[in-house]
Amino acid sequence: MLSESVIAAATATLGPADFVPQVRRSEHADFQADGILATARTLRRSPRDLATAVVAALASDGLLTAAQVAGPGFVNLHLRDRALLAQLAARLTDPRLGIPTPEAGVTTVIDYSQPNIAKEMHVGHLRSTIIGDALVRILEHLGGTVVRRNHVGDWGTQFGMLIQYRLEHPDTPAAASKAQTVSDLAALYRQARIAFDADAAFAERARRRVVALQGGDPETLAAWRDIVAESTRYFTEVYDRLGVRLTAADAVGESAYNDALPDVANDLEQTGVAAVSDGALCVFFDAIRGPDGEPTPLIVRKRDGGFGYAATDLAAVRQRVADLGANRILYVVDARQALHFRMVFETARRAGWLPSAVDAVHVAFGTVLGPDGRPFKTRAGDTVRLVDLLTEAVARARAVVAGKNPELSGTALEQRARQVGIGAVKYADLATGRTRDYTYDPDRMLALTGNTGVYLQYAHARVRSILARAGGPAPAVDLEAPLEPTERALIMDLDAFDDTLIEVTTTYEPHRLCGYLYRLAQTFTAFYEHCPVLRADPVQRGNRLALCQLTGDTLRTGLQLLGIDAPDQL
Ligand code: ARG
Repeated sequence: MLSESVIAAATATLGPADFVPQVRRSEHADFQADGILATARTLRRSPRDLATAVVAALASDGLLTAAQVAGPGFVNLHLRDRALLAQLAARLTDPRLGIPTPEAGVTTVIDYSQPNIAKEMHVGHLRSTIIGDALVRILEHLGGTVVRRNHVGDWGTQFGMLIQYRLEHPDTPAAASKAQTVSDLAALYRQARIAFDADAAFAERARRRVVALQGGDPETLAAWRDIVAESTRYFTEVYDRLGVRLTAADAVGESAYNDALPDVANDLEQTGVAAVSDGALCVFFDAIRGPDGEPTPLIVRKRDGGFGYAATDLAAVRQRVADLGANRILYVVDARQALHFRMVFETARRAGWLPSAVDAVHVAFGTVLGPDGRPFKTRAGDTVRLVDLLTEAVARARAVVAGKNPELSGTALEQRARQVGIGAVKYADLATGRTRDYTYDPDRMLALTGNTGVYLQYAHARVRSILARAGGPAPAVDLEAPLEPTERALIMDLDAFDDTLIEVTTTYEPHRLCGYLYRLAQTFTAFYEHCPVLRADPVQRGNRLALCQLTGDTLRTGLQLLGIDAPDQL
């Protein structure tokens, strides 16, 4: 932030090395510095005294018009117009818009999307995919190395019944291997489940098929591979439609850890982290108990010798730290799995697989609700298919775009409809505090006013159209021109972009970026209402065009970091 360096230079001469006050926007000044109170306490000085010393130590380099002590020990800073304009000029000519690279040298492994083979993707996977994609983009933009891991559900006893049913019913659409679609697979899954529950003999054959699959029987493995390949093709289609950066190469499913599981279990048992209880290999936690007061264990190996979800995640943590060199591991997963991750992380710490220097974070998200306020389901009670949601959103967006711009048709209309429709779905999801539940409401997410993706896309396109009408070379900043209050407010909002992005990488909350962009668009509107741009005198015109340019670039970069297109025209 603009005034951070000003204050940091002053405090560097005064106190302990970690004395770096926080600078915030303030109603009483351009910025206010706090954090002086805490340092005064350690130094056993009066806070107002220390604040007075800070003010005295501020450099007289002409950046400030005034600085005063305020309240119990704050410092109010008023910046000279020239300082604000210099900041605008510097950002404008920097392709990175002044964004630093604090993530350089940090490797993040991020586990997100994670759909399940032979099932449709649903709204839960939508949240994980969209939030994960935004975090990937932002971490990379701040210079980080990001390893994407799509922890696909591609293993488990359900594959026994699926494969068995398919082999026994070669004529069902899903079994005619070429004509397979994922809906067929999902239907096959339902039929297999019904047979499994109703027919004891089939259930027994399905169980034997699980053993064959685990034992590597070639025919069974081939059938499994077919099913995985078909589903993966479908996931890739959905990712392309969504415009998220996930490829087949990022899919490292649960099955990828199979070979490591016996070793994981042995290690835990030998080090005493896990113990056999009732035949199962378990890890216990003092603080984690069920409703009956009995400890709830993490089950590493089941009584029948089989491994499940927990063992796989433990193997994955170990691999992500030891082989991928993760400094931080993020899991973008439904909040309902909080206990699972708490137990997995704690176990991995005890086992020494997750050193304290490595952060492991469950980036939890809430549930998507239907119009009735309950988890989003179709009228028949089925999960809502992600592809149906996207098709509907794009269709509605087409109507919105065509309504605003009747001349648009053909492929141009299709492209805009896709950009607006997909953007609306993503933005509605990202703009909600991640841990909160939200109601899926296509009307609201496509509203042209309010905190929506469409509103921001139009705000961006409006700025571009002003710039297009101005024509001419890139605007240059005149540092000596005076500034109107709405111009100052806009520069200060633009200045907060980098801090906002850094905040997202410390909280893993993309809604902070959404809120920032929304405020920026509103500040721009206030500026544009008060300050004529194209009709202004030459000096002001140049500076105001520079403001338009940096606003447009900031909106576009911000939207792109959320995975949302920002077309120049809509
Ligand atoms: N496939 C799981 C599901 O659909 C989510 C997997 C989450 N990731 C993980 N490493 N456990 O619920």
